[in-house]
Amino acid sequence: MIHKNLNPFPNHFLWGAASAAYQVEGAWDVDGKGVSNWDRFVRIPGKTFKGTTGDVAVDHYHRYKEDVQLMAEMGMKAYRFSVAWTRIFPNGKGEVNEKGVEFYNNLINELIANKIKPVLTLYHWDLPQALQDEYGGWESRQIVEDFTNYSVELFKRFGDRVKYWVSLNEQNIFTMFGYRMAAHPPGVKDDKLFYQVNHHANLANASAIKAFRKYVPDGKIGPSFAYSPAYALTSKPEDILAAENAEEINNHWWMDIYAWGKYPQAAWRFLEKNGLAPSIEDGDFELLQAGTPDFMGLNYYQTTTYEMNPLEGGVGAGEMNTTGKKGTSKDTGIPGVFKTAPNPNLQRTDWDWNIDPQGLRIALRRITDRYSLPILISENGLGAFDKLEDCDVVNDDYRIDFIRHHIKAMQEAISDGVDLLGYCVWSFTDLLSWLNGFQKRYGFVYVNQHEEGEHDLRRVKKKSFYWYKEVIESNGEKL
Ligand code: BG6
Repeated sequence: MIHKNLNPFPNHFLWGAASAAYQVEGAWDVDGKGVSNWDRFVRIPGKTFKGTTGDVAVDHYHRYKEDVQLMAEMGMKAYRFSVAWTRIFPNGKGEVNEKGVEFYNNLINELIANKIKPVLTLYHWDLPQALQDEYGGWESRQIVEDFTNYSVELFKRFGDRVKYWVSLNEQNIFTMFGYRMAAHPPGVKDDKLFYQVNHHANLANASAIKAFRKYVPDGKIGPSFAYSPAYALTSKPEDILAAENAEEINNHWWMDIYAWGKYPQAAWRFLEKNGLAPSIEDGDFELLQAGTPDFMGLNYYQTTTYEMNPLEGGVGAGEMNTTGKKGTSKDTGIPGVFKTAPNPNLQRTDWDWNIDPQGLRIALRRITDRYSLPILISENGLGAFDKLEDCDVVNDDYRIDFIRHHIKAMQEAISDGVDLLGYCVWSFTDLLSWLNGFQKRYGFVYVNQHEEGEHDLRRVKKKSFYWYKEVIESNGEKL
């Protein structure tokens, strides 16, 4: 539909930006913090770009006041951040580390004093290493209890002031990278375990949401899902079916459980036939149905295009581009189910991510149609090589262009009837990109941090900073 007039953004729309503890905080062993799986993983040679770690990251732990001042200057309405589980419970459970609680109390209070709504993510991938060592972390059902206790502690401590919560960030990504591709901790390749781990994460997610109702009855909570809507490469029925397969196995597999507490039919059958379906225990589906969210958190970066993949001789695991050298990624697939294909209609970033603003409208519409839930865009942004020019200037017009088109797509989706709560751009300051180091930058604020050479961590407002400020001031009218 081409609308003659677009509906305005709602009043109180949450114009924001996002981050994650490991990617910004640094201070990895300060004030009683325990060791996380990432603290450990980055020390294995060859795992991250040029061996970068989050030991210092962008030192947000010590510079949060300066960062919040910049957010206030920009007029931001919401800031999404995650809590490092190991700051609260250094060993994942047991005694609370009050120093860790104090840090987040200070951050939350600083945000509120500056009229910025905190959006708190319970889990953005940094699992206490102690739990990984003790019982394999997400591999065991014991994680459900420990994750719930940790979440309840946060609800009790911060629920009086924090009203927007994200439960798990991109469960589909951290489990896929951790258990299928061995690119994230714990560095395993085991398809069967991957689905079992996901089932435990689903239970933990539902259990935390269920508890949330008791402790923060006036708050809203939902998971953040990395949704890459599936397109078919051609109108050949076999390609359409491949895209349907991908939508079901890569997307509905998670979102159906979040929204309805049940797994989609064809995907379940496929896994069962291949001996990959997770084991379910009595009461699991009751719990999953009792812990459904208030909104779907959407992390949208790109769409993916699929075509038929033959059973015999079909394409399997592909390759990611973590260097920023365009064209170095390789297509991936499951023989007999689907394979990815380049979309000839879309431009790509230097990391081979498709640039597709209309795909965001499609994602918003599909979620709305299928689940009838409000949506919070919890991440969207452009990773690029930014250049710090003379006199501390960063002319990131390409980022402005990217975000502008995505905001336009959001407004079109709102005009289609999508209930959109807010938009958290990834990211506010530059930060550590897990596998891509500091060279892949997303922020409105440049941070002078590099793998090598001079890095004094100073903050520099990019051109996009001033642009987004005006977008917020005009409630999305001035793009
Ligand atoms: C999301 C994550 O997958 O995308 C973020 O929630 C991440 O933590 C972001 O940084 C961008 O990904 P990347 O690989 O470009 O850093």
